Amino acid sequence: MKVLLLSLAARGHAIADALARSPQKPEIISVVPAKNPGIATLASQMYTADLMDFDAVLDIAKKEQPDFAFVAPDDPIGAGLVDALEEIGIPSVAPKKALARIEASKGFTRDLLTKHRIDASPAYQVFTENDEISIRSFIDELEGNYVVKYDALKGGKGVKVSNEHLQSIDEGVAYALECIEECGRVVIEEKLIGVEFSLISFVSGTQVVDTPAIQDHKRAFEGDTGPNTGGMGTYSDSNHSLPFLTDTHLSRAKELNRLVAKALKDECGEPYKGILYGGFIATKKGVQLIEYNARFGDPEALNILPLLESDFVDICTAIIHGELTEDLVRFANKATVCKYITPDCYPESKDRKGEEVSFPEIPENARIFYGDIAETDGKLTLGGSRTAGIVGIGDTIEEAEQIAQQICEKVQGPVRFRNDIGTTALIQQRINFMKTITS
Ligand code: AMP
Ligand code: GLY
Repeated sequence: MKVLLLSLAARGHAIADALARSPQKPEIISVVPAKNPGIATLASQMYTADLMDFDAVLDIAKKEQPDFAFVAPDDPIGAGLVDALEEIGIPSVAPKKALARIEASKGFTRDLLTKHRIDASPAYQVFTENDEISIRSFIDELEGNYVVKYDALKGGKGVKVSNEHLQSIDEGVAYALECIEECGRVVIEEKLIGVEFSLISFVSGTQVVDTPAIQDHKRAFEGDTGPNTGGMGTYSDSNHSLPFLTDTHLSRAKELNRLVAKALKDECGEPYKGILYGGFIATKKGVQLIEYNARFGDPEALNILPLLESDFVDICTAIIHGELTEDLVRFANKATVCKYITPDCYPESKDRKGEEVSFPEIPENARIFYGDIAETDGKLTLGGSRTAGIVGIGDTIEEAEQIAQQICEKVQGPVRFRNDIGTTALIQQRINFMKTITS
């Protein structure tokens, strides 16, 4: 069994680790844009190539002839790398370009839900014309509580929210016009109030099997302040739900992933095969959709994959062959807390690039997944982005948090992390907030 893993950073390391734990002992052929010391210990071969350079990737694929490819990041999936691999006879765990519009176009997704009568969207409109009057009038209709979404992939930086990133209606209108100028479309929607969570599912057409629900913390600093990042940390609970969610919330999120997988198949005339990431918000009116991603999240994969007790290679082949069943997927009933170590100047600058970082020994109830980090002469040095995800695994979130925290405190170098992620105080705030909005 040979797997071509097209990935980068800590998410790639977590996927490689899950593949390597398979009893089938697959040969992992890795293609990464920059060498990753974590993947390096697990892969039998590591190529460096820009994953958007399809010719380079296809040359490697033709030479290696893997049984399947696992394409992890959004940009190559959105640009159609899965279609290109299929043309040379290599199936992938990731959707083809038309299906990946579920992530690459926020307007496609909202319209898909509307067309298939899936009731989980706020009021929204898609604009394609440089029509300032209509845009302003819709924002006025939303009474200033609005979100403006760039309608193409933008590294998670295309969404601007009123009163957070946009301080006036004029700023909202200006950003909407800028989006139309750059990518030809913009989505404007009502700002939802509630608590966000993610539910990631394995999908093969209408076969859908869920992974544990996760809460991500996108803001750079403690107390959920500062700019949005790729994610500073995440947690999951031992019952695979989250402390602030009711059973109704979780079952609705599961239902939405199933309805959307079916809608995608009907809309595109072929099955979605891969990872479907639902980003939801539990509101006064129930669960609403924030966005879909066509891939694992980073850090979400770092929480989910270490809990997987069954064979990940079997799950991947079942996704490809349309043979996905619940009994193939088994997760340990443990809680996880992931805290990202980042350079202390992240995300404002990359000034610490090249400086040394060192980690303590990682105990059995924890994992470390390397992100933007380089290894030279046995020394680990910082890149500009997130350095490494430290995951604690315990019977409760509290225990998992303490395990992760203790390791993070011992990391040496000019780095930082968020102390508050996974703490009882922060989780209690979420529970209290949920109570306020539902009462
Ligand atoms: P996205 O890239 O769609 O995940 O958006 C990034 C972040 O923007 C989300 O995690 C939310 O915090 C926020 N966001 C997006 N859409 C909405 C919405 N309709 N209401 C409130 N917040 C939103
Ligand atoms: N952690 C959010 C994402 O990967 O999109």
